[in-house]
Amino acid sequence: MTAALALSESLPRVAPLPGQTSLARLVGIGKIYGAGENAVTALAEATLDIRAGEVTLIEGPSGSGKTTLISILGLLLTPTTGEVWVEGKNVTGLGERALPGLRARNFGFVFQGFNLFPALTALENVAMAIQMKDPKAKRPKDEAKRLLEIVGLGPRMHHLPADLSGGQKQRVAIARALGGNPPILVGDEPTAALDTKTALSVMELLRELATTAGRAVVVVTHDPRLERFADRVVRVEDGLIQAIDRPADRPASTHAHA
Ligand SMILES: Nc1ncnc2c1ncn2[C@@H]1O[C@H](COP(=O)(O)OP(=O)(O)OP(=O)(O)O)[C@@H](O)[C@H]1O
Ligand SMILES: [Mg+2]
Repeated sequence: MTAALALSESLPRVAPLPGQTSLARLVGIGKIYGAGENAVTALAEATLDIRAGEVTLIEGPSGSGKTTLISILGLLLTPTTGEVWVEGKNVTGLGERALPGLRARNFGFVFQGFNLFPALTALENVAMAIQMKDPKAKRPKDEAKRLLEIVGLGPRMHHLPADLSGGQKQRVAIARALGGNPPILVGDEPTAALDTKTALSVMELLRELATTAGRAVVVVTHDPRLERFADRVVRVEDGLIQAIDRPADRPASTHAHA
């Protein structure tokens, strides 16, 4: 079964809450690290809407604030100024009691380094993540198997990470991020460790997850070749969103959102 077919059959589409167009929203976000002489302004006045079905790339030079931006979006980091909206609510300033649940319900994370446990098989890695997100999850191994089939790794699910290629490891990490069915997938340079062909196939899978399963995909990258998969490219420089472009071959009219 191809990944695309498996996807459309087995992942429920996500949709924003009734009356909402965004799955998440950043409004006037600023971030200053440190204080006094050591203060570094990493972001200023960043405003961004994250919508179901859209792939958003974040591009910009090293140190421009990309990781800071998606860390604030993913509720991993608190902004100094501005508001973060998730599930139709302003969640800025919510304490550590509320955040883990919100984070787990709304976000799946994929990183450059895969971060798989080397002693666990692909199946065990994904099953463990499902259990960590929701200790009451029913039959986590069955769910893990289903997710690995969706990303095209069914035949390799009993292998250890060391026996998988880079692209296969990243597919395991994507299956893990899909655990608990979060509507928003956030990636920090998820293709940086991969060769071009593998990087494009991983990006194709993320595109498919947005198009077919209505996920919002937000990916930091240095690779302009990934732009062909994106609905929007957010260009960050010196902590400022300089432009939000729509790649020319992906006109707004072919997608649900303006
Ligand atoms: N924990 C921190 N404490 C102090 N300064 C930080 C911290 N994290 C990031 N910075 C600074 O904030 C700015 C933005 O960093 P950020 O990691 O968001 O950049 P980036 O665009 O992701 O860069 P790269 O492409 O190299 O990953 C940089 O000047 C960085 O040095
Ligand atoms: Mg970074």
